[in-house]
Amino acid sequence: MSNKLANFDGLVLGVYKDGSLSESASKEVSNNVQQTIKQQLQCAGVKGKLGEVRVLYGIGREEGLPSKIAVVNLGPKSESLKESLNKARVAAAAGVRSLRDQGAKNIAIDVMTNEHGASEGATLGLFKPDNLKSIQNKKESVKISPFGSSSSAQGFTWETGLIYADAQNFARILGNSPANHMTPTIFTENVKSFLKDLPKVEVIVRDEKWAEEKKMGSFLSVGRGSNEPSKFLEIHYKGGKEGDKPLALVGKGVTFDSGGISLKSSANMSEMKIDMGGGAAVSAALYGIAKLELPINVVVAVPLCENLPSGHATKPGDVIIAMNGKSIEVDNTDAEGRLILADALYYTSSTFKPHSLIDIATLTGAMAVALGADRYSGVFSNSDKLWEELLEAGKITNDNFWRMPLDDFYLKAMTKSDVADYINASGSRYGGACTAAIFLKEFVYGLGDEGTVGKDITSIDKEKKDDVVEGNIIDKDADEINKIRYAHIDMAGVMITSEDSCYDVKGATGRPTRSIIEVARRLAAPK
Ligand code: BES
Ligand code: MN
Ligand code: ZN
Repeated sequence: MSNKLANFDGLVLGVYKDGSLSESASKEVSNNVQQTIKQQLQCAGVKGKLGEVRVLYGIGREEGLPSKIAVVNLGPKSESLKESLNKARVAAAAGVRSLRDQGAKNIAIDVMTNEHGASEGATLGLFKPDNLKSIQNKKESVKISPFGSSSSAQGFTWETGLIYADAQNFARILGNSPANHMTPTIFTENVKSFLKDLPKVEVIVRDEKWAEEKKMGSFLSVGRGSNEPSKFLEIHYKGGKEGDKPLALVGKGVTFDSGGISLKSSANMSEMKIDMGGGAAVSAALYGIAKLELPINVVVAVPLCENLPSGHATKPGDVIIAMNGKSIEVDNTDAEGRLILADALYYTSSTFKPHSLIDIATLTGAMAVALGADRYSGVFSNSDKLWEELLEAGKITNDNFWRMPLDDFYLKAMTKSDVADYINASGSRYGGACTAAIFLKEFVYGLGDEGTVGKDITSIDKEKKDDVVEGNIIDKDADEINKIRYAHIDMAGVMITSEDSCYDVKGATGRPTRSIIEVARRLAAPK
């Protein structure tokens, strides 16, 4: 067992609440050393809380263990896949961080309760945001390797954990970059180079001229105030059979949201460099999907632009025509996400006819008000099945979702314009995430009735009332009527985190990248 560890200067070992080593580590380490560790932890007053860590020195040198050993608690023994993944994730992150703080550069990590969780947690936890400080700008990289082995559960391995985490870290990098270093053009270049060695992937960068030809008046209206050209990023992954309907992922890519003429207040406005978090998450998820070589087809679309005020900027009261021919009165230029997504959703759903369409967007402050920061992304879906797939994936990754209503009730507020089919802001703070969601759904092609567009809204209202009488206030489930499955994810509450903890790192979160990879992995799994 000894020489295996010869090159390492640090080792992370998992230990249960009762002081016994993880199953994986106890196979690799002598009884003698196990006893010593147990005694040391007792002396150190370890309580046995998940993630509690002690660094021990010079133990087991005679059997070749590295000089620094971070012993991390896994809490009580447990059982579900979800728990074993998360324990390994939290413990590995705590362990590698404490060893890195002590200068370790080459760390072996006990795979503990789940090897995917261990490599994922360590890789997420070791992430360091770039900075542009003139001193102390060098990033030391820490190398990690698995120690021991666990039986791989449901195809989760050390390598899959690395892929999930690398994907999320890429989304973090995109999100953390200052807006002048992450323009629409630079975003597309970064994605291109990150995806360049992956087979079956095609990246297409569309320009404004293309968007004009497609009549994407809604998308183009937002970037007008900026000198940076808008871009429309389109990525195809062809892992499935030719002709198989794809999964479509659309992400909001506002590289800076000042609010435009409806200018935001200056407090925390700099956070709006992360208003491309949805676009980052879908691009990063595609990396994971392609790297895992999942046997499915996927198309990603990211409308990219800056929302700035200027002499060219769209003004409140302006009316624009979206790609689907519908008119929109721009009442508030700060409700720009839905404008760029309207065209991206229509283009993607009408061109590629996906079986499922998921969009991810930092869409409304109201979403963060509703669900709070750092915990759940809100999901608005017409499909119980797609919702359940998201829910389950979110539990596995511990990047969770909470369901919100996608209900035509909210359309009334979005169709009250005197001059256009739609208005882009309801004018009320109430239900702000729900009104935004129902606006988006109007631009999804393949729902059967092609949205409620053009119908007399008073009659919709009446139909809705009839539905309520039947006790059914939500639209018919997409699966029942064999229509496109649509889910809108509002990630405004989870785009940024304010402190390091567990495997979270202060700054852009890169969420919900791993959950989307997991949804795709489950879609691709043989039924
Ligand atoms: N990007 C913002 C939403 C946002 C706010 C995300 C805070 C993350 C944190 C979006 O473009 C926006 O400004 N939404 C407006 C909509 C309103 C004008 C209808 C909002 O939420 O205030
Ligand atoms: Mn805005
Ligand atoms: Zn925005």
